[in-house]
Amino acid sequence: MNSIRVDIQRLQREIDELALITEAEPPVVTRVLFSEADLRGREFVKKLCREAGLALRADAIGNIFARWDGADGKLSPVATGSHIDAIPNAGRYDGVVGVLGAIEAIRALKKSGCRPQRAIELIVFTAEEPTRFGIGCIGSRLLSGVLSPEKAATFRDRDGKGLDEWRQGAGYTGSLDYIRLPKDCYAAFVELHIEQGPILERDNTAIGIVEKIAAPSTLRMQLTGVGGHAGAVLMPERHDAGLAGAEIALAVERAVTGTGSPDTVGTTGVFRIEPGAVNSVPCRALLEIDVRDTKEATRDAALAQIETAAAEICQRRLVVLQMDRLNVDPPAICDLALVETVISICRQLGVSHKKMISRAYHDTLFMAQVCPSTMIFIPCRAGVSHRPDEFSSPEQIEPGVRVLAQTLAQAAR
Ligand code: GLV
Ligand code: MN
Ligand code: MN
Repeated sequence: MNSIRVDIQRLQREIDELALITEAEPPVVTRVLFSEADLRGREFVKKLCREAGLALRADAIGNIFARWDGADGKLSPVATGSHIDAIPNAGRYDGVVGVLGAIEAIRALKKSGCRPQRAIELIVFTAEEPTRFGIGCIGSRLLSGVLSPEKAATFRDRDGKGLDEWRQGAGYTGSLDYIRLPKDCYAAFVELHIEQGPILERDNTAIGIVEKIAAPSTLRMQLTGVGGHAGAVLMPERHDAGLAGAEIALAVERAVTGTGSPDTVGTTGVFRIEPGAVNSVPCRALLEIDVRDTKEATRDAALAQIETAAAEICQRRLVVLQMDRLNVDPPAICDLALVETVISICRQLGVSHKKMISRAYHDTLFMAQVCPSTMIFIPCRAGVSHRPDEFSSPEQIEPGVRVLAQTLAQAAR
């Protein structure tokens, strides 16, 4: 089992090279879906896949599949994968470790002489991050059937440019109707990812094995008030969309802190006001609000409280409110047997490990709906993520890749 050798220096070089493909000034990584940087990043990953001898294909939303054929073509494949898109002002490890780490895991397996019965397939998912369309995991939502092609075709970015126009511009031109996977089309799905939390580092533990992924949701609120001259419109006459938005953001904080559970979190991560001039009363505000909990019912209660508060605030201020639920997802429960497989591999490799809950969402949230799934977490410094100073050392990444390789080999045996 210890015959698998991960070339961690090569993997680190590749992580560093991909980090230079960014819309921002390095070391900041910004790779928004279908931006020029995202497209160049995809080419970089495809080149590595080709060099590793993997067969490439893509579906109509741009999910990329790189396959190592198994000895028995009739068996369902085993899958792994993650994403390379990155939110504005991100770091180099989120998603990337699960994509480039999977390529290295496959290369290491090939080099060890492993001959899997089942094919092993790497999936590079489209738009795990919600930046462009306000909703994340578009690729895996379509694969799992949670998102219908009709609904996806209605997605528009902030400038009104549609998903179809974006994907076709990126060269993904087919019909969205054929993306959905049949149930159990994969024998297993395992995603390698940085923890994005402080637990593994604090506990000096090499590997987290994910049992459950918290339930995410996103609200979009568009507020229309009345603009005017900042000097001339007196305070009693105002219908300030910015102030209504500010009150809503505070109501979000109140709702999530009021559930009595530390697991409820809420973030008003997008808050834009127009016209954005210092001497003009804000006439419009756009808010995007992220609410999560490990327990669906608690999350749902917080969501309802936020919506009620927003309606009351806007009514009182005579501001028109349009409110949409962009996504309200259940939590994912990972496959018990697969979790046990990863645990037994960690034991055999002598790698410290513990079971964990993922508070971040991942494409596994949706893959878990179509096949047995789990995730392998590795530590990251101080739990920092979605920031340029996100960091995992080569010594922390290496065991993750080794455990992934063994898990794929075992599941594909
Ligand atoms: C994924 O990036 C998340 O926001 O959890
Ligand atoms: Mn992320
Ligand atoms: Mn991620």
